[in-house]
Amino acid sequence: MSKNPSIPHHVAIVMDGNGRWANKHFLPRAAGHKEGVKAVRNTIETCAKAGVKVLTLFAFSSENWNRPKSEVVSLMNLFVSSLEKEVNKLNENGVRLKFIGDRTRFSQKLQDKIEESENVTANNDKFLLNIAANYGGRWDIVQACKSICRKVQDQQLKMEDISEQEFSNYLSTSTIPDPDLFIRTAGEQRISNFLIWQMAYTEFYYTDVFWPEFDEKQLHIALEQFSQRKRKFGLTQEQIEANSNA
Ligand code: FPP
Repeated sequence: MSKNPSIPHHVAIVMDGNGRWANKHFLPRAAGHKEGVKAVRNTIETCAKAGVKVLTLFAFSSENWNRPKSEVVSLMNLFVSSLEKEVNKLNENGVRLKFIGDRTRFSQKLQDKIEESENVTANNDKFLLNIAANYGGRWDIVQACKSICRKVQDQQLKMEDISEQEFSNYLSTSTIPDPDLFIRTAGEQRISNFLIWQMAYTEFYYTDVFWPEFDEKQLHIALEQFSQRKRKFGLTQEQIEANSNA
């Protein structure tokens, strides 16, 4: 949670509607994704200015491989070109880049770019841009289970010591606090195998706006809605008030 609870420390976004935006403008789907990159840039800047510290973007899900091959290829090319174009500027602005997901299925070129961007920005601490690529929440839980089993097998961890907190240490987000606010654009109200463990207590915000049209104003509407939410984490309103007066 943020020190100022009305500003989310961590925002997680499913950037939906690139294809429908392209359709609306009689453009190919790839043009929608390209336009989506502008919204990404804008969202990073607006989040940083507003005091958000971590932004996780769902750039490519494990299920997205099933899209038409031409779309997958154009998305991969867009990831490579976006990294080539943006990393220096992100670095100059103190942004640290991190990728979560199974990167081994990407081309060697993209894997190298990902690693390079993480290394170049590793010491930045103003803002964390966490990109979920070939990510799936179930994959994350399974890979955490495998690591834990290995440790138990090697007698480095006792089964009795596996708590929820201990389990989180094996997820790909182990160093990042859970999202405070989840945003999904383009009218869909689904989690789509995103950060399913991590979003147990996250506030959800949905908008009909397509991702390429999600601008500063739209993000401020989401932040404003978040600031009105009463987060209880299973407690009663009276307990929350007593804690905040303590
Ligand atoms: C969902 O829209 C969007 C994606 C699967 C890709 C998201 C990628 C970007 C915004 C581009 C770049 C990102 C980074 C981090 C450089 P959709 O295609 O499912 O839209 P539709 O539901 O309208 O068809």
